[in-house]
Amino acid sequence: MSFTEEFGTRVTVVDHPMVQHKLAILRDEGTSSKQFRELVRELALFEGYEATRDLPLEDVRVKTPITEATCKMVQGKKLAIVPILRAGLGMVEGMLELMPAAKVGHLGMYRDETTHEPHEYYAKMPEDIASREVLVVDPMLATGGSAIAALHYLRKCGVKNLKLAVIVAAPEGIRAVLAADPEVQVFTCAIDRGMNEACYIVPGLGDAGDRIFGTK
Ligand code: PRP
Ligand code: URA
Repeated sequence: MSFTEEFGTRVTVVDHPMVQHKLAILRDEGTSSKQFRELVRELALFEGYEATRDLPLEDVRVKTPITEATCKMVQGKKLAIVPILRAGLGMVEGMLELMPAAKVGHLGMYRDETTHEPHEYYAKMPEDIASREVLVVDPMLATGGSAIAALHYLRKCGVKNLKLAVIVAAPEGIRAVLAADPEVQVFTCAIDRGMNEACYIVPGLGDAGDRIFGTK
């Protein structure tokens, strides 16, 4: 069964040629931290386009230099971006370029290197998070543990409209997320083969946080 058949409309793979081109450079072990950060920002912007495709529009009257016209603008929707620290921080700037009025919540989560279980160490959300459309961002979806913990936290905060944008996903992680949260929509630039024994995505791109921040 193909991933499209298995995941249906709940998972969108952003397969635009420019996205795939940038992703290939991102995966390359020779790509510097500086270039890696720029690519993550750009890929987040592309993903933001897909993730906001369903925003409602309203008619507005605009006076062009030629005449008056009825045009469309996005209705005043309340949005929030929630990066999973650390690596998710790399996607915030690109998302904010697209949605400058969005608020940003932060969720600190690290994966235990032996058990691969997520541990939450920080959370700071906008006060009105429950009434916002929330886009959780993290470049990597491996076992799905971190994303599931983040989605669970936000559901407990009362968030109803939740989306998850990642750059590379393992099929196992997607399955786990879809099963844990029956409503979340997932956006990714690629669905990879799987994971290795250390639960790193294969072929993946290595440790996203370390590559963004140059910590290895
Ligand atoms: C990475 C990544 C995700 C998580 C994915 O973070 O950014 O948050 O692992 O793995 P999972 O799907 O198996 O939970 P990591 O724990 O390495 O922390 P970091 O961002 O601080 O480097
Ligand atoms: N976290 C990463 O940064 N990379 C992976 O491949 C898996 C989890």
